[in-house]
Amino acid sequence: MLKHPASKYRPFPPVNLADRQWPNRTITQPPIWMSTDLRDGNQSLFEPMNAERKMRMFHMLCEIGFKEIEVAFPSASETDFNFVRGLIEGGHIPEDVTIEVLTQAREHLIRRTMESLKGARRAIVHVYNPISKPFRETVFRMSKAEVVDMAVSAVKLVRQLADQQPETQWVLEYSPETFTAAELDFSLEICDAVTEAWGATPDNKVILNLPTTVELATPNVYADQIEWMHRQLARRDSVILSLHTHNDRGTAVASAELGLMAGADRVEGCLFGNGERTGNVDIVTLAMNLYTQGIDPGLDFSDIDAVARTVEYCNQLPIHPRHPYVGDLVFTAFSGSHQDAIKKGFAVQQSDALWSVPYLPVDPKDVGRNYDSVIRVNSQSGKGGIAYLLETEYGIVMPRRLQVEFSGVVQKHADSHGGEISAAEIWQLFSATYLDTVAPVRYREHHLFEHGAAQGIRLNVDIGGISHLLTGEGNGPIDAAVHALQSAGIYVQVRSYEERSMGASGEAGDARACAFMEIADAEGSTGCYGVGMDANIVTASIKALVSGTNRIGVTLPKTGAIAWDGASAVA
Ligand code: KIV
Ligand code: ZN
Repeated sequence: MLKHPASKYRPFPPVNLADRQWPNRTITQPPIWMSTDLRDGNQSLFEPMNAERKMRMFHMLCEIGFKEIEVAFPSASETDFNFVRGLIEGGHIPEDVTIEVLTQAREHLIRRTMESLKGARRAIVHVYNPISKPFRETVFRMSKAEVVDMAVSAVKLVRQLADQQPETQWVLEYSPETFTAAELDFSLEICDAVTEAWGATPDNKVILNLPTTVELATPNVYADQIEWMHRQLARRDSVILSLHTHNDRGTAVASAELGLMAGADRVEGCLFGNGERTGNVDIVTLAMNLYTQGIDPGLDFSDIDAVARTVEYCNQLPIHPRHPYVGDLVFTAFSGSHQDAIKKGFAVQQSDALWSVPYLPVDPKDVGRNYDSVIRVNSQSGKGGIAYLLETEYGIVMPRRLQVEFSGVVQKHADSHGGEISAAEIWQLFSATYLDTVAPVRYREHHLFEHGAAQGIRLNVDIGGISHLLTGEGNGPIDAAVHALQSAGIYVQVRSYEERSMGASGEAGDARACAFMEIADAEGSTGCYGVGMDANIVTASIKALVSGTNRIGVTLPKTGAIAWDGASAVA
């Protein structure tokens, strides 16, 4: 229950568009992108960008591939005015990039705006005025006709001033601000009047930008509004229909996507959704959403972290760790079942095949991330993530039942220590659990020998701190070593054995072979794993036997009960 009954609010009325077409459409090509990071984004900052930050952002936007960039609100501040001058006079604007500036539909502001653009090769002049009922009736106390006249007069003035600066190729953009809250037929009336006043033609189109200045309804309502306008505009062939969505309800991306399906050609927004209040639509998310549908967005986010760091520097705002496609945690799985599925997905994903790794909607490498952080371990994690980290960081490919056993060790550690566990910590736990098992039996060395058809072994081990040389025979080295231990009264059974080669990586040092042995006690009632590593595979397997023997908790036979190979027992 909130502070006041929900009757304080009312549902947004639907659009009367029974034959809407957009639900059956799909997006097949990227829109014309327009970055408003330097205007709408900049206006929303605690501390608007200084000239250096603005310039840095501008250059990055050009590198990403934006061809239209709203660089300033020149009549609003000296910084913005001077920035536009600096861009033009400093020759910073690439040939294929058009700068755009915003102005209210007021004479003195338009004059100042046009002045800022002197000498530009090409420029978009973006004129706006609020048109919805609360603005008409409460804020400005204007009739509909007066609001239309305000827009038309502004456009005519831009036309007149533009004609005085013929060295520039002029484009007009008009935004009926608060479009989503306005009557549709009134939006249409004013947009058609502006198109007419500008003298737009198919070769000299006007940009009509229809903003969700404040997001008020579900995205389907916006799509209906856009489709309605798209179908009703008097000179649609002379119009570039543009979207400018804000995120008050958290659906700016959905609104823009449905708006494109509804017939729009262009989208304005900011990187990572900066902008007034809850932000403008996030162009990165929109572009990456297209990319993951097989459409090249025409914007380069192949080093998304570099873009993110520059945006954070310029805006002086952090990007949330869960922000789509870029957040520090978005390619990370902590949950055990997710890790397991991702690990299996990676194992079968071919580099040239369609991407289909579970839980990862995009290949992290496509945005310049690596796979290092994909699987991270905390108390929520399972065996899959642990196994993945040991495999990728240390070259240890554990058998499945060992994964289950070892995840219990890691889980216990996580529960008692809290927080995330790094790959290095997992390796330390693994070593301490399986490799550094020093009591009661410690492997020293062995020698194999042939005895008829049998395999013989002389096994030098410490038992209870005293070195012994044991002898055993069997049908192979492991069997012989088991019998050698039996000769000392230590009875274990080998349930399963696997060996894997591994790279010499990290702290695993020179070890090339890793042996995993599942050991049971003499009765076969309890079992656990032993692990051995060595450059020599037989040595690795005997170490695994000794490791498992120690871990299963053999009780040392009483002194004198050990059937020593007496002559060779070494004190
Ligand atoms: O959100 C909005 O309506 C605007 C206009 C100036 C386009 O930013
Ligand atoms: Zn806006």
